[in-house]
Amino acid sequence: MGVRIFDTTLRDGEQSPGVSLNIKEKLEIAKQLAKLNVDVIEAGFPIASPGDFAAVKKIAQEVVGPAIAGLARATKEDIDRAWEAVQEAEKPMIHTFLATSEVHMKHKLQQSPQEVLESAVEAVAYAKDYTDNVEFSAEDAFRSDPDFLCQIFEGVIEAGATTINIPDTVGYATPAEFGGLIKYIKDNVPNIDQAVISVHCHNDLGLAAANSLAAIQNGAEQVECTINGIGERAGNTALEEVALTFNTRYNYYGLKTDINLKEISRTSKLVSRLTGMEIQPNKAIVGKNAFAHESGIHQDGVIKERTTYEIMDARTIGLEENKIVLGKHSGRHAFKDRLEQLGYQLEQEELNSAFRRFKELADKKQKITNLDLEAIIEDEISQVPEVYEISLLQVTSTSGLATATVQMERDGEKINESACSEGGPIDAVYDAMNRITDLDCKLVEYKIDAVTSGKDALGEVVVKLAYNEKVYIGRGVSTDVIEASAKAYNNALNKILVVRD
Ligand code: KIV
Ligand code: ZN
Repeated sequence: MGVRIFDTTLRDGEQSPGVSLNIKEKLEIAKQLAKLNVDVIEAGFPIASPGDFAAVKKIAQEVVGPAIAGLARATKEDIDRAWEAVQEAEKPMIHTFLATSEVHMKHKLQQSPQEVLESAVEAVAYAKDYTDNVEFSAEDAFRSDPDFLCQIFEGVIEAGATTINIPDTVGYATPAEFGGLIKYIKDNVPNIDQAVISVHCHNDLGLAAANSLAAIQNGAEQVECTINGIGERAGNTALEEVALTFNTRYNYYGLKTDINLKEISRTSKLVSRLTGMEIQPNKAIVGKNAFAHESGIHQDGVIKERTTYEIMDARTIGLEENKIVLGKHSGRHAFKDRLEQLGYQLEQEELNSAFRRFKELADKKQKITNLDLEAIIEDEISQVPEVYEISLLQVTSTSGLATATVQMERDGEKINESACSEGGPIDAVYDAMNRITDLDCKLVEYKIDAVTSGKDALGEVVVKLAYNEKVYIGRGVSTDVIEASAKAYNNALNKILVVRD
């Protein structure tokens, strides 16, 4: 039997504090989710903003394979807008929701249970006129009266809901209790066999995956989750944790998902890069340390027999060994082959540019690994049309005072600016770039990492710039960390300009 995976990275995941993805980034994630083979992609909340609407519409037009869902409150306006956004999808879906707990009904909705029941049934019937594939979520279900939940689920199934979702909206449940609620609903909703039972858990107590698994053992058939577990507050159930549990513990659960496990690592890195949400090193499955062994006893054991200390093989999730792949003398053909093995299909122009960068890197760095190649390619892919291009960068730093001269080109015109800073060379570079672009933006985060080890390692810089109440992420890669910093800043500046102009 298969467990269905409903991915909400682009909706609940995008509700993570500080995350804001543009259309191109959302489309890239959605295409990767299709490669991962999720059953449903919840692409956004179309009525929330014109940007959300446009992204859901684009995903519906371009992404095939999974069903594409749009979220809607239980109102006609929301449902109309959601349908408008998803209607061109190969498999369109409307997901409508209404709160059912006492505290939500009384204080937030200011509606009686009877009114909530009527609105829910009406909303599902209205959505059903558009599409056969309708999900209804009882928001804050875990804190709702179980008998009222049964009543509302019976009503919405009768009105045509094909999936009923039981969220633990505030992450309050524990596994035995949550499993018990699912069983109660399964046993007490007379028409339950006409709908898929779905669960949606939040991770406030760190129990989201455990609660989802308990739900499946008690009759749920679908898990709603996000890549890397991102989402509101402490996030949602992490897709990779659920998929790998079913795979690794098939002997216990006897269940599988249709997830293409080899795409997990790539999807996780992509989501982390585009959202700017770092993955904690000890995060299960996808953290940097998830397959690392530090103690001598463990290392010795793994060398003798991998399964002494590893319950999963890193290759299952598509983690390649960090082997040396190419060098200075490798040709375009070998380069292209290697990229294809890593899962990248580049357009001719992107390939030419990536190959040029690979050759430049090979001149500076002896051993080029898969990680280096991924960093270059991800950097190429994240480029936006360059309004400004850096054509010269000169930095000196003595006795605590740094001076930077930057030349940037805009429409063929070269603009030079210099700046001094006691805050270091990167600060001076950013001041000079601000003078050139004259954008009133604020650096809210700066992060630097080495892609591999060694003194010739590539440096990868990620910056976040706040502009007009939105946050823009920029990324830059180079063996020279000041150059990587300037590139990252320029990438974010260009993203602002593309949106603004
Ligand atoms: O957490 C929640 O209740 C939700 C619903 C909209 C499904 O995200
Ligand atoms: Zn949620």
